Amino acid sequence: MKAVYLLPFVVALCLGNAITSRKEKDLEWWESTIFYQIYPRSFADSDGDGIGDLNGITSKLEYIKEIGVGAIWLSPMFQSPMYDFGYDISDFYAVHDEYGTMEDFEALTKRAEELGIKVVLDLVPNHSSNESEWFQKALEGDEKYYNYFVWEDAIIDEDGNRQPPNNWLSHFRGSAWEYREEVGKYYLHQFVVGQPDLNYRNPDVVAEMENVVRFWLERGVAGFRVDAVNCLFEVDKNLHGGQYPDEPLSGAVGVSLDDHDSLDHIYTKNQNETYYVVYDWRDVLDEFKARDGLTRVMMTEVYASIQDVVKYFGEGDRKGAQMPFNFDLITDVDASSSAGDIKRAIDKFLTYKPLDKDANWVVGNHDNSRMATRYGSSLVDGINMIILLLPGVGVTYMGEELGLVDGYVSWEDTVDPSGCNTNDPINYGKWSRDPERTPFQWNAEKNAGFSTADKTWLPVAEGYETLNVEVQRAAERSHLKLYQALAALRQDRVFRHGRFESLALNQDVFAFRRWYKGEVYLVVVNMRDVEHDVNLTYFENVSGDVKVVLRSIQSQKNEGDKFPAASLPLAGFESLVLKVK
Ligand code: NOJ
Ligand code: MG
Repeated sequence: MKAVYLLPFVVALCLGNAITSRKEKDLEWWESTIFYQIYPRSFADSDGDGIGDLNGITSKLEYIKEIGVGAIWLSPMFQSPMYDFGYDISDFYAVHDEYGTMEDFEALTKRAEELGIKVVLDLVPNHSSNESEWFQKALEGDEKYYNYFVWEDAIIDEDGNRQPPNNWLSHFRGSAWEYREEVGKYYLHQFVVGQPDLNYRNPDVVAEMENVVRFWLERGVAGFRVDAVNCLFEVDKNLHGGQYPDEPLSGAVGVSLDDHDSLDHIYTKNQNETYYVVYDWRDVLDEFKARDGLTRVMMTEVYASIQDVVKYFGEGDRKGAQMPFNFDLITDVDASSSAGDIKRAIDKFLTYKPLDKDANWVVGNHDNSRMATRYGSSLVDGINMIILLLPGVGVTYMGEELGLVDGYVSWEDTVDPSGCNTNDPINYGKWSRDPERTPFQWNAEKNAGFSTADKTWLPVAEGYETLNVEVQRAAERSHLKLYQALAALRQDRVFRHGRFESLALNQDVFAFRRWYKGEVYLVVVNMRDVEHDVNLTYFENVSGDVKVVLRSIQSQKNEGDKFPAASLPLAGFESLVLKVK
């Protein structure tokens, strides 16, 4: 009797479930688009001074639209003496003069809005510039600004010489402490001398940075990429008898003692307090969303363990960044990796991220050798297939759509502090980030169409005459054309809502399946210059024939060609997107 009464409820519940599970989740703008990183200094120079600028970017927004990108994130364009090319900010509320004016910035956001492109800025909260008004006032003895920074007394050694307070090292080599006569103390700089660290144990600093966030949100930006955020806090020295303790040696092999990697950064990185500052910024972003309904995003730049990286997503009911950058495809794999290595690197983020959050895929940026150089130019299409068709948000560093490679920058032309501080004209290349920052390649004209200047801030990479936008636009098949096709395909419901499974089909061939409501796609990437015949029926529900939807430029196959799933021939480095049914 009871069962009979319950029956209608059970049926209703089941139906309800079936309906909800079948309903596509409404995706927000940031979940389905591609984020394209622009390094302003190197993208397009509008005024012929050899340095990229905001008007240059504005003039190229149609290109961004053309390749299917819906959001750009700009490396810092704020006032800066450029000791670290904009990551040393002297005025967080102003546009850097070499890059233009606030009016130029407004013109950029206006044009972007017309084209439906969101603009995300780089927030650099960890440090300012030694030429900032804040630091200058600190030197003059202004107490408020003195407390913006991290000061410590010198240690006087047995010979009576002044020494830094402890062994902490700068990311760019040598002590992280710099002495200032005016104050009679050392200040902390985890990056170059010109980047004094801000003191996040001071509520005034926290408030100031929140103000910076609001200032740019008021000017229409859709969010922030947050720089070096895991460096915000140093250990609380009060827990260590009032002195910052030395960091232990890391034991890294072949690393000199002035190299940042020689220490294990247990006191200067990944401190627990950091996450709560990030969650507070998210509240500010959500406050703006509450005004107009537009979600503002945060992407955090953290190279750390996966367990620490996912903490930026949030905790309990505190929300954090939508995109804690996933750098596994930069740090864990390269051209020498096997298909299994790639599978493991991809599965890592998917395994650790909270189920209700999105993954994101980053293969390059202005701090790492370019994707085409790390993986080899033959894999450009395969890697773009991976990052644009995996579940989650795709991130592209400018030029990856073309397969731009690192440029050669001689010791004389080297400007990156990470290279210069080696003082090593032979081995500087291992540290310098200039090669991935060489000017964008638009066409075969002077300076690759980047600038009309006689000298550009970094030399243009060799080979630009044939490796540029214009050539790839005109070609019937090119990395650019494939990228455009991938950008369009990723909007398909299978890629937006579908499930995911990956396999290393053998040592060399990585493949994944995306499926949704009976539709199935496969992406197959041959990582080696070796022919293979692969059996795709190792994937569940894959049988019969597969049809070529997109193929890498070296593929001899045509769109629409059919092959038996049990025996797909692959040429060396060939990458394919296939439709099963
Ligand atoms: C990370 C940035 O991406 C890098 O370019 C910069 O040098 C450091 N943070 C310091 O801001
Ligand atoms: Mg210029």
